[in-house]
Amino acid sequence: MCGIVAYVGDKPCRQHIFDGLLRLEYRGYDSAGFVCVDNKSKRFCCHKEAGMVDIVKKMSETVTCDGSIGMGHTRWATHGIVNQVNAHPHFNCSRTIAVVHNGIIEGFEKIRASLIKEGHEFCSSTDSEVAAHLFSTLLEKNKSISSAVIALTQKLDGAYALIYMLESHPDKLIVIRRKSPMVIGVGNNEMFVASDFLAFSDKTNQIIFVPDDSFAIVTKDNVAIYDFQGNLLNVKIDTINATYATVDKQNFEHFMIKEIYEQKHAIMRTINFFNTIGSMVSTDNLNESNKKNPLITHAENNLSLWRQLGVTADQISTLKTINLVAAGTSWHAARIAQFFFEMIAKIPTHVYLASEFRYMPLFVNKDSLFIMLSQSGETADTLEALRLVNSLDMQTIAITNVPSSSIVREASGFLPMQAGPEISVAATKTFTSQVASLYWLANRMAYERGMINLDQLKIAQDDLFIAAEILETTLETNKLRITQELAPYYAKFDKFIFLSRHINYPFALEAALKLKEVSYIFAQCYPAGELKHGPIALVDEHTPVVIFSVLDELIYNKLVSNAHEVKTRRGHVIAFAFEGQTELIDAADVAFIIPRVNPLLAPIAMSGIMQFFVYQMARELDRPPDKPRNLAKSVTVE
Ligand code: M6R
Repeated sequence: MCGIVAYVGDKPCRQHIFDGLLRLEYRGYDSAGFVCVDNKSKRFCCHKEAGMVDIVKKMSETVTCDGSIGMGHTRWATHGIVNQVNAHPHFNCSRTIAVVHNGIIEGFEKIRASLIKEGHEFCSSTDSEVAAHLFSTLLEKNKSISSAVIALTQKLDGAYALIYMLESHPDKLIVIRRKSPMVIGVGNNEMFVASDFLAFSDKTNQIIFVPDDSFAIVTKDNVAIYDFQGNLLNVKIDTINATYATVDKQNFEHFMIKEIYEQKHAIMRTINFFNTIGSMVSTDNLNESNKKNPLITHAENNLSLWRQLGVTADQISTLKTINLVAAGTSWHAARIAQFFFEMIAKIPTHVYLASEFRYMPLFVNKDSLFIMLSQSGETADTLEALRLVNSLDMQTIAITNVPSSSIVREASGFLPMQAGPEISVAATKTFTSQVASLYWLANRMAYERGMINLDQLKIAQDDLFIAAEILETTLETNKLRITQELAPYYAKFDKFIFLSRHINYPFALEAALKLKEVSYIFAQCYPAGELKHGPIALVDEHTPVVIFSVLDELIYNKLVSNAHEVKTRRGHVIAFAFEGQTELIDAADVAFIIPRVNPLLAPIAMSGIMQFFVYQMARELDRPPDKPRNLAKSVTVE
């Protein structure tokens, strides 16, 4: 991953770079670095250190050098441990070339070995440092910067967004993009470059999205973009009006808990917004009496919705399969949604892990729809999967929380969730908003396909709002017990087993991921029916078993049997059960009792308590829930 921010212009760059780095913290927080061509000495002045927010704040107080060209980097370590030496920028031997890098240079070991043979001395263990040394040899061998860049791109494999600064050309940023994102902000006698335009959204709204496989030579008053063959490209300037909002924790201790509490409203805002998509686009064309007719408005809304999604009503009616592609928590939401599309809209649905998708056989089918699900819209695995599907000319829809993201830009249509910025690395409100969005979409499709009528469509939406309400009320009623009694007790265990069946099995996977992420406690999740096929060997009094119930009588009874299987082996059961499920509640050592909801919305109803429970465990163990070790909010490497 990593975040890059750079500036060339007629103003001092230092403060802008530090501010930009703080805005890009979501891309990695292992280390931070800054380099400028110092106005006084005309030499590079560089500061870098392991750590992030505190380091950047410290640097902005202590670093005194400044210049009209500079760049900064926030790292998510891929090659080389987290330390000062491996922090970016990196330099060539004579320290006249500085580079920052986002991505992974594949096969860098070979290039590094041959450069060492030629006499280059490396300081770090990163793949990125290779880019500095290699470019210095290519600059010596080539007549111009452009031809050296072209030669460089022929030697480097993998994904990279690179910015070079040359001490000998203190007026130029050399920006190279292959797969990893890079944007240029056009100002007045100044240019901004970054991995995400939010880094400079307060400075300009005139944006150039650097095309894939191209490079730019950026000076304060000009941007020249070339493809990797050296042809000048005519790239348009877009106007983007999104701004970076500083989001604060209000009175909460962490963003994670604030975001857990925001879920009910995030779901409601998202669904209410989706409902306006049709009317925003279409009701203008309706006469007044039709506008008041809910049937016509709904039907018309659906048509406009399909337009927004880049499909036609006919395509929805004749759809043969849906494919959901996602990673991490988004993949869990997709697995839950498989039940929605299959049970409500009767459309066979496949769910793919984005990181595996590209390496599996893919059958081109024009009656098939791909939905790419990603909170950030920047996840490299999902983006690459989208590009593969696009290259085969199949229909793609993005559902993200970030409307300006790469995935939104490249998909044929999109649904923008309205969860609001999610700062904590652990996804909470975006998970439940994704589940709600997909439930809403499945119902809209079912309506279009004649599977449900308007009343049922309305009930579906009411059910969603009821589940969102229950998420919040159950959290409130269990809050004290979790904080004072349960979290302190369970935080002492070093491993957990999570079990469920049917629609709550992917939810159990999400619970196990959340526990691992924020508390670093080992958690293993199984479909409960698999317990007897092996994992039951793990059950003992030292391994709590968390069971999430379901609202299907037959499946519930099987779960009750699974709970007894655990108990008879001296296991310890924590049950998330629904009101009236006395068999499970009685079998459990600890039970959370949740009001009954639409059975397909059980994951939403249970999310609040589950997330609050793992959050409190993290607190007990003194983990930083907003920024767990080794993670980043946006995973932009494959
Ligand atoms: O932005 P995305 O939804 O595409 O991110 C996918 C995963 O990286 C993400 O869900 C990750 O698993 C979260 N940290 C989970 O809390």
